[in-house]
Amino acid sequence: MKGIILAGGAGTRLHPNTIAVSKQLLPVYDKPMIYYPVSVLMLAGIREILIISTVQDLPNFKRLLGTGRQFGVEFSYTAQPEPDGIAQAFILGEDFIGGDNAALILGDNIFYGQGFSAMLKRAAQNPAAIFAYQVKDPQRFGVVEFAPLSKFPSGISVPPGDIALKVKSIEEKPAKPKSDYAVTGLYFYDNRVVEYAKSLKPSKRGELEITDLNNFYLKEGRLNVELLGRGFAWLDTGTPESLLQASQYVQTIEENQGIKIACLEEIAYRLGFLTKNEILKNIENYKNNDYYDYVRRILK
Ligand code: DAU
Repeated sequence: MKGIILAGGAGTRLHPNTIAVSKQLLPVYDKPMIYYPVSVLMLAGIREILIISTVQDLPNFKRLLGTGRQFGVEFSYTAQPEPDGIAQAFILGEDFIGGDNAALILGDNIFYGQGFSAMLKRAAQNPAAIFAYQVKDPQRFGVVEFAPLSKFPSGISVPPGDIALKVKSIEEKPAKPKSDYAVTGLYFYDNRVVEYAKSLKPSKRGELEITDLNNFYLKEGRLNVELLGRGFAWLDTGTPESLLQASQYVQTIEENQGIKIACLEEIAYRLGFLTKNEILKNIENYKNNDYYDYVRRILK
């Protein structure tokens, strides 16, 4: 499976922070925002990752992430000249995807919670899988409408103990949301996604909508939705307030537990992408600070 991170857009709600720097390169506490979605793809076992951003911002992503060798992965880069919609990622990524399945994550989405790696591996085995999360302002998102069922229907997987739910509809930013479950910015599809994306027409707001893509799979009865439960964090980073809150969330967990969220060297080591010595060599030129002290400590 190939992975794509969509990290374009103008980030206007964060101006002037994002006039000279891409939003997805801003810090979320102790590391750049894009580390978080990279960590999600790595945890799903994905090692070939395409970064899509604007023509102007792409060189900075390359400067930060390079070839990916330092994390045991391989990064490729493609520009999105205009923000023509999230689903365009699969058209821009057609050659990169080749004959494989593909996962897409938005570069500004932060996920954190126990059992996530197992959920990701499960999701990757479905023709199409998305994640739903309860929010207080669903009209800002793609919204899933569920129909309760008494037993697990085929094609729907839910965390053990939760009620099985069947998806009735998915709507993009509805004025009157039919539930308060938002579709998060993480999507797993089989290889047909490229053809489906190419057949999409721009919506009223002129974008190739990811929700239209999800509706293709929903109509076929092949869209799998996993609920991210109460204990899970899906954090927004779109405004100065939410960006600060995301930083504070990461700081609180990291300081309480003495662990780091989305430390890419740690993930590469734990998943066996790189050996201890390879990582130590890669970071030998980085001075001691909180982040690299942590990497050196966990490797010992
Ligand atoms: O975050 C989850 C939500 O993401 C979903 O619930 C919605 O269904 C989905 O449409 C999307 O909604 P947003 O309103 O967050 O989409 P936005 O246009 O803000 O784009 C999300 C990120 O993707 C943002 O950081 C910019 C980037 N982007 C967006 C578009 C449309 C691109 O890089 N290129 C694009 O063409």
